[in-house]
Amino acid sequence: MAANDDTADRATDENRHHVVSVDEFGEGERVIIDIQGREIAVFHSNGEYHALSNYCTHQGGPACEGLLSGTLDVDEDGELIWSCEDEIVSCPWHGWEFDITDGRHTASDKYRLPTYEVHVEDGELYVEL
Ligand code: FES
Repeated sequence: MAANDDTADRATDENRHHVVSVDEFGEGERVIIDIQGREIAVFHSNGEYHALSNYCTHQGGPACEGLLSGTLDVDEDGELIWSCEDEIVSCPWHGWEFDITDGRHTASDKYRLPTYEVHVEDGELYVEL
């Protein structure tokens, strides 16, 4: 039983990758790091951390390097409203928009950026792949 627990601990450590100290990662900032050949973007937005692939599902552009903003939506009365402030990133190549909280394309459930777990431990931020 103890051997299984040790194996599980090692697997967790191997999958956990340090990104930044939270003291150095202010609200509204993002960092993009290379983890095992994959570019991962981590956002600090609206008091939360979100990690996504930086590889656009359209044509492979750097999806998470674009403008972080909100998006137009339709409310229950059919009126256009501005929503999701600081949660929508626009790929700089052709403007596809993705929700950084879940990776979904704003106009189609067919497209999604992979997302990753983020952990803060002792003031350090980690991403799990
Ligand atoms: S490559 Fe991202 S929108 Fe085209």
